[in-house]
Amino acid sequence: MKICIFGAGYVGLVAAACFSESGNSVIAIDVDHEKIDNLKSGIIPIYEPGLKEMVLRNQAEGRLSFTTDMAEAVEASLVCFIAVGTPPGEDGSADLKYVLSVARDIGRVMNGFKIIVDKSTVPVGTADKVRAAVREELTAREVELEFDVVSNPEFLKEGAAIDDFMKPDRVVIGTDNVRTAEIMKELYDPFMRKMNRMIVMDIRSAEMTKYAANAMLATRISFMNQIANLCERMGADVAAVREGVGSDTRIGYDFLFPGPGYGGSCFPKDVKALIRTAEEANYDFLLLKAVEEVNEQQKEILADKLIKLLGSPDEEQPLTGRTIACWGLSFKPRTDDMREAPALTIIERLLTAGATVRAHDPEALKEARKHFGDRIEYSHNQYDILAGADALAVITDWSEYRNPDFDRIKSALKFPNIVDGRNLYKPGRLASAGFRYVPLGRYGGSIY
Ligand SMILES: NC(=O)c1ccc[n+]([C@@H]2O[C@H](COP(=O)([O-])OP(=O)(O)OC[C@H]3O[C@@H](n4cnc5c(N)ncnc54)[C@H](O)[C@@H]3O)[C@@H](O)[C@H]2O)c1
Repeated sequence: MKICIFGAGYVGLVAAACFSESGNSVIAIDVDHEKIDNLKSGIIPIYEPGLKEMVLRNQAEGRLSFTTDMAEAVEASLVCFIAVGTPPGEDGSADLKYVLSVARDIGRVMNGFKIIVDKSTVPVGTADKVRAAVREELTAREVELEFDVVSNPEFLKEGAAIDDFMKPDRVVIGTDNVRTAEIMKELYDPFMRKMNRMIVMDIRSAEMTKYAANAMLATRISFMNQIANLCERMGADVAAVREGVGSDTRIGYDFLFPGPGYGGSCFPKDVKALIRTAEEANYDFLLLKAVEEVNEQQKEILADKLIKLLGSPDEEQPLTGRTIACWGLSFKPRTDDMREAPALTIIERLLTAGATVRAHDPEALKEARKHFGDRIEYSHNQYDILAGADALAVITDWSEYRNPDFDRIKSALKFPNIVDGRNLYKPGRLASAGFRYVPLGRYGGSIY
């Protein structure tokens, strides 16, 4: 099938690579000329495991191409995906300016029947707005062309995006047109050969499904973070509690690890947008407001612990003269994405408190430099940043941090302090190795 995808970001590029991998002819369009030039020369703008190889292979075989010329791309395609950003507007609602601008572009250049697919995360009612924008352009051109608008929200996870796209838990298609549903089924069939995992529903329900899914996951995270915080105060161990709770098949183990708060390009903005959608419908989504507030508090917890552990409480800048080594900056492992990463809040707090901050991350140093410039020190070696530091703070659970050389850590640090925002280590083992180990919601975690 011939398809085009507007937006060559995390979602658009992964979708383009995976659709071309299954034999389709795919053109990815972006307004960012530098990004497209780079992609044409085989430079991939983001880090995502397996993506580079897949893009290069399909490019070489002529199934995947990149352009800034959307007219050519739309003319050549039956299905046009919209995978551009939907950042939060000032009031928290999803800003649809990029989505609607693409819709108008398509209306301006389309030359026959098109299926226009919203893959961006967009609030309920957006398909109607996309339809209206396309129709307006067609009316201005005084042409009558048929088109259909579909909602096909994306559920991939950064860090495992290729796998998620190639083997999805489900593909949600929102359409009221049987023929369109068939075409979408044809497109997704290669990704569900073992069993059909396509769920076809009305457009508004498909739009809502994406927000409900992210809101549910964010809720689990905030819930478990509060359980962890309470465990600390009650002398309970959240690791044991997690096992005990997760073993209930109605609950399951996923998304029950405590941490320094959720981040990334999706949960924070989608939770905000759903709260705003509810407000517009005169409905007070109390639960989600609490989820968001808990998350904001949780992002402060590692810095709070470090200040309690090392700070001079009466000073305006309690960490003056202290050096903190941070492991992990991206909002989660296996990505270089730092959008809304807890590390941003934590490091800003540490800097405000007067600390010197050094950071290591396997992939996100370039992104981090955009945020912190020369205000912190960076290293590609996770051990180099420890020399003479007052504490190690573990912020992101990259696998290389899971089983490190503790002797090396201890001899490099000035004081053997580890504040662990991901509960990667065994408290007993670290205590017997002579560390002051401060996890979340576990023995030793409480410094209050
Ligand atoms: N990143 C994720 O993990 C993820 C997962 C599921 C859903 N989503 C949703 O998918 C959408 C895209 O997210 P992303 O992370 O890929 O964003 P992104 O910022 O990485 O990429 C968006 C791309 O769209 C391009 N763009 C903007 N306007 C354009 C236009 N008029 N024509 C062509 N290209 C244009 C930008 O230059 C950019 O390259 C969002 O709605 C997001 O919520 C993201």
